[in-house]
Amino acid sequence: MSQLGTCKTSHQRLIAWVDEIAQLCQPSGVHWCDGSQEEYDALCELMVKAGTFTKLDDAKRPGSYLARSHPSDVARVEDRTFICSKTKEEAGPTNNWADPAEMHATLKDLYKGCMAGRTLYVIPFAMGPLESPLCKVGIEITDSPYVVANMRIMTRMGQAVIEKLGTDGAFIPCVHSVGAPLQPGQADVPWPCEPEPKNKYIVHFPEEPSIWSYGSGYGGNALLGKKCLALRIASTVAKREGWLAEHMLILALTSPENKTYYIAAAFPSACGKTNLAMMRPTLPGWTVRCLGDDIAWIRIAEDGRLYAMNPETGFFGVAPGTSEQSNPNAMASVRANTIFTNVVLTPDGDIWWEDMGVPAPASGIDWQGNEWTPDCGRKGAHPNARFTAPAAQCPVIDPLWESPEGVPLSAILFGGRRQTTIPLVNEAFDWEHGVFMGSSAGSETTAAALGKAGVLRRDPFAMLPFLGYSVVEYLKHWLALPEKTDRSKLPKVFFVNWFRKSDDGKWLWPGYGDNSRVLKWICERVEGSGKAVESPIGFLPAPDGLDLGGLDLPQGNLDQLLSVDIEGWKKEVHDIVTYYEKLGDLPASLKAKLADLEDRLAKAS
Ligand code: GTP
Ligand code: SPV
Ligand code: MN
Repeated sequence: MSQLGTCKTSHQRLIAWVDEIAQLCQPSGVHWCDGSQEEYDALCELMVKAGTFTKLDDAKRPGSYLARSHPSDVARVEDRTFICSKTKEEAGPTNNWADPAEMHATLKDLYKGCMAGRTLYVIPFAMGPLESPLCKVGIEITDSPYVVANMRIMTRMGQAVIEKLGTDGAFIPCVHSVGAPLQPGQADVPWPCEPEPKNKYIVHFPEEPSIWSYGSGYGGNALLGKKCLALRIASTVAKREGWLAEHMLILALTSPENKTYYIAAAFPSACGKTNLAMMRPTLPGWTVRCLGDDIAWIRIAEDGRLYAMNPETGFFGVAPGTSEQSNPNAMASVRANTIFTNVVLTPDGDIWWEDMGVPAPASGIDWQGNEWTPDCGRKGAHPNARFTAPAAQCPVIDPLWESPEGVPLSAILFGGRRQTTIPLVNEAFDWEHGVFMGSSAGSETTAAALGKAGVLRRDPFAMLPFLGYSVVEYLKHWLALPEKTDRSKLPKVFFVNWFRKSDDGKWLWPGYGDNSRVLKWICERVEGSGKAVESPIGFLPAPDGLDLGGLDLPQGNLDQLLSVDIEGWKKEVHDIVTYYEKLGDLPASLKAKLADLEDRLAKAS
């Protein structure tokens, strides 16, 4: 076995573990990553030679590459994601549980020789600033140079992490293989993976803790710091240690009076976090700065307030729909040093995707590597095509985005993709009602996970696919926060929905930068000044509560966006009742909130 990249650690447990995995997986060489630019460039060059990467034109898109995945490997695989806690009860009613001993046996067979003909890369990475009280170190072993390159953008990766570990620091072992060993002499393919869905495994052992991922090279399946560590494993640690690991963006909103409010928002995958996190407000005088677009680690600080910190260093954002119009700051973030996956390659060596806001090229190469023209009847980019870009490149990145302490939250938003029923914005009556709103959130599924898109499902706290333990215990953890701090210091809770449609299928609300109008009302409510009306479902903006200056919104749209559809809500409640029954033994206070809602709706009709 050859040794590439030098191993500059004297951490014996780490060295022994890497040896053990190398023995199991039988790679042709081992490369300890130092995280340097030289290493990154060399790996990119290697991938260009292998056909995994296409270098984009340096004048148009400096330092950037395009990758095309295997058509079977385009999104997270939720039904192949497992939580292997000691008991099924600990994994709860919503997770796939498997017995840890049995799963270990299965994995051992699967990983035997699985890296034959490939290099094993050792990626030391940290989630969170190294000096943050919440920082967690992981070591990802992978046989995918694509994963190494992406992890370098998405995490703090390399020698500094090895130094933080010292000779015996704690790390979370993460093993990843694309599951495509090469026979001697066998030619490689541009995107090796295990195409058979039932042979893919995304496995978490929360007690150890450790992560084992097999068969996929895409996104959250393979970049193990993200959903696997920073959400599934971190959520179990957070529960134990009294903090929160959440699928939330973090933004700073500054008013014309120069007052800044920090807001976190939990929306399911592909439901608008990246867009809201770095939006350009249409309201004059207001600014938004971005601290994170996908994950927030939140703790109660000494002053009793909730402080949120982004454990990542990059954006793994949805490409289609991103344009100068919808998200100019994302467009600026991907102007250079970006990895694009599953978008169109244009004849001039740049990239394109649907709704990019610029004309499609007359011809190009689509995400599957085929000749493509705009009128060929196929989409050029995959709906879950992504960009991987350094957060530091975002023009509105907040100066505090790497603060080890994080920022104090004034409001928490829940949301989802709902064509009907759910109003534009709705404020919770109190903390418990806010937790109820989060627990019962529904959203239409998207292309971010394999499976049918557009199906309404309950996605509590946008964490359904990302919880490492029982959702029932998770909800109790959220409900217990007022016992741990002064209730008045907790953020106010709101529910938003940018995705209402009219009967003829048009968006009722313009969204994007105009969502600043909703954020302004939220700040006013935080200050106790915003005009609101009490309704059966919460506080809605009064008819003149939202600042709609300069917006040409038909009155009929506004009426639908801000009214309570009593019959629709009765159906909603019915659906939540069924869901709550499925979840089992929920805290009485949540059931009480549901019963209250049912009562108020009955009285209103
Ligand atoms: P993940 O990275 O999967 O967690 O997704 P995300 O929550 O960051 O979603 P993102 O912001 O990338 O948005 C996903 C899709 O929703 C894109 O196609 C956007 O164009 C669309 N979208 C985002 N915000 C809005 C909005 O305010 N209105 C409408 N109509 N669409 C939106
Ligand atoms: C999501 O699906 O919520 C994502 C993309 O943020 S992935 O990293 O693939 O999970
Ligand atoms: Mn996400």
